[in-house]
Amino acid sequence: MRLTDEEKRILDGKQGEAARIALAVLVDLGELFGAEELMTVSQVHIDATLYMVDAGLEFAEKMADLGGKVAVPTSLNPSSIDLQRWKAYRVPSEVLSKHKRLEKAYLKMKAAPTWTCAPYQHGIIPRFGEQIAWGESNAIAFANSIIGARTNRYADLMDICAAIIGKVPKFGLHLTENRKAKMLIRLKEITTQMFENEAIYPLLGYLFGELAGDQVAALTGIPQDVKIDSLKGFCAAAASSGAVGLFHMVEITPEAQTLEMCLHGKTPANVYEITPKLIRKAEERLWTVKSDTADLVVVGCPHYSPAEFVRLVQLIKGKKVHSSVIFWVFTNRSVYAWIKENGILADLTDAGITVFTDGCPLQYPKETWHFTAAMTDSAKFANYCFSQSGLDAAYASLKDCVETAVRGKIYRGEAPWRKK
Ligand code: F3S
Repeated sequence: MRLTDEEKRILDGKQGEAARIALAVLVDLGELFGAEELMTVSQVHIDATLYMVDAGLEFAEKMADLGGKVAVPTSLNPSSIDLQRWKAYRVPSEVLSKHKRLEKAYLKMKAAPTWTCAPYQHGIIPRFGEQIAWGESNAIAFANSIIGARTNRYADLMDICAAIIGKVPKFGLHLTENRKAKMLIRLKEITTQMFENEAIYPLLGYLFGELAGDQVAALTGIPQDVKIDSLKGFCAAAASSGAVGLFHMVEITPEAQTLEMCLHGKTPANVYEITPKLIRKAEERLWTVKSDTADLVVVGCPHYSPAEFVRLVQLIKGKKVHSSVIFWVFTNRSVYAWIKENGILADLTDAGITVFTDGCPLQYPKETWHFTAAMTDSAKFANYCFSQSGLDAAYASLKDCVETAVRGKIYRGEAPWRKK
C-alpha cells in the first residue's frame, strides 16, 4: 500500500505503540483486500464490546494501557449485560468483572458510552455519503442502505484499530463502483393489507438476506410510507440471515431513487421474487417453540426507539404481564432517560415489564436463565436464539408478544399472508 509520511512515522512507532499496532493491522487488512491506500473516516462504531473470550478483552485493555485514544468520535455497541443494573439481574461475579474491565478500557480510550446497537437512532449519526467505519451487522446495513453513509462490515478488533487511527483501507463499500446492485429481488402479490401488519418487514428482511447473501441487491415493492423502525427490523433480519452490508430499496433508500440508479444502468445478473408463500415458510423457520407457552417475551433487538416504546405502552395499557412470564425490553441510556421522565417506564413497570439498558438479550448471562421458550418481535433474535442460548424461539408481531405475555399462553393473531 502507498503510505503517507505521517503513516510511515506512525508505523515507526513515533506516535506510540497503540497507534503502531493499530495501523499495522489496518495495513495488513488493506493488503489482503488489494487496497492502494488508507482513507480518513469521520466516526467509528465499535462492535467488540460484548465480552466473548479473554483475547478480545485483553486486546482492548492492551491498547488502552499503551495509551491508545480514539482519533475520531467513536460509539460503542451493547455490552452483554446491563452495566448499571447488573445486581438486580443476578449477573455472576466473574462475568461482571470482565465486562467492567472492558468498559474501563473503552472509557480510557475516550469512546462514547452509548452501549447501543442502534447508533443510527441515538448515537453519533452520519450523513449521506459520509465515510465511516462501523461494526455490528444491523447498524452497518442501516448506515449503508438507509442513510447512504459508507462502511465495510468491520469485524471486532479491526474497529478498535480504525478508531485509534481514524482511517481504514480504501476498498469495498467505501467505493462507488462496489455499491452497485447486481441482483434484483421483487415483491410479488404482497398486498397493502399485508404491509399494514408491522411483522412483515423483519420477515421480508430475513428472506431478502437469504437470497442476497453477501451481494448488493435491489428490492422493489416496499411502500413509500414504511416507518423507520420497520426499516430497522428489516436491516437486522437481513444482516442475520445473510452477510448483507448494503441493499437498495427502490424509491426508498437514497442511492435508489430509480431502479436504473442502483443498478448503475446495468441489467441484474439474477432476479428473484418474494411471495406470500415464502413469507409463510420464513415464519415457520422462525418458530421453533413446540409447546403453547413462552415464559420469556423479549423485545428491543435492535434496541428500542421512543416510537417503539410509545406503541408498547399503548398495547399493554390496562393489562398486566402474567405471573408465569418475564417480559424484557432492551434500549439505550438516552431512551431510558426519556421514558423515565415521561412516565412510560413507570407504566411498563406497573404492567410487569422490565426495561434494560446497555445489554443484548442474546448475550445475557445464560447461567441465570431458567426459561423454556422465548417469544420476540425480532426476526434477528428468533434466528439466533437457539444457537446462542439453546432456547426455542417464536417470532411474532409486538401485538402478539404482548397478548402472549398477558395470557401466559402463546397467542397468535391472524396475518394476511397466512390466508391462502
Ligand atoms: Fe442488538 Fe444484541 Fe440484537 S447487539 S441487534 S440486541 S443481538
